[in-house]
Amino acid sequence: MRLRNIPGAREFVAAHPLVITDSGELPGPWKDIFGNDYPIHIEIGMGKGRFIIDMAVRDPNVNYIGIDRYESVMIKALQKLDKMGDTAPENLRFIRMDAVDIEEFFKEGEVDRIYLNFSDPWPKERHSKRRLQSREYLQRYDKILSRDGHVEFKTDNAALFEFAVRELEGTHWKLKYISRDLHSDPEAMKNNVMTEYEEKFSARGQKICKYVIYR
Ligand SMILES: C[S@@+](CC[C@H](N)C(=O)[O-])C[C@H]1O[C@@H](n2cnc3c(N)ncnc32)[C@H](O)[C@@H]1O
Repeated sequence: MRLRNIPGAREFVAAHPLVITDSGELPGPWKDIFGNDYPIHIEIGMGKGRFIIDMAVRDPNVNYIGIDRYESVMIKALQKLDKMGDTAPENLRFIRMDAVDIEEFFKEGEVDRIYLNFSDPWPKERHSKRRLQSREYLQRYDKILSRDGHVEFKTDNAALFEFAVRELEGTHWKLKYISRDLHSDPEAMKNNVMTEYEEKFSARGQKICKYVIYR
């Protein structure tokens, strides 16, 4: 999701108190930033932030961090939170970055869950390493995830999903859950929090695929 350039978005995002920038101390001080040592769950490619905001409201005993590379989408999440005033969750922060640099922001084993929701498919084969489910990215997740950490991935894109499942072959990653039609699984839907893209695509009748992996 890349929205048209929004004048002032870069400055707004950079100056917003919920946006964490690399001050030279990272990776490491997340406990200080949140003022507690609750588990850390991150969403890579949060877009306008509907999912991560809903998750943070739902579970105040988890610290959530939304990551996106574009200010033009992150600004939407920040404006939404600003409008919420006192009801905005306190357990939510943001990083504006390309996930290729994720290890610069998290220490080994510091993250307990990684959400990848409706990630960009990068359909050209020569760009496959840029897919957030590629082996290159799995290796990065391996470093920052805690021992019991999980990666949860949802998409409407069947080709990207099959690629993601193939990337697990011959690795130490294991499938904890897999569905090629999540919305037909009543048990899994009990705790499902919809993303913006999920609502859009499922309303059009497209099937939503999901996996949960661990190692
Ligand atoms: C298709 S949107 C999905 C937004 C949201 N997760 C949802 O499900 O509604 C994908 C988002 O991922 C972001 N993104 C893609 N690749 C990224 C990367 N390497 N690092 C950070 N953000 C990325 C894009 O900027 C975009 O906002």
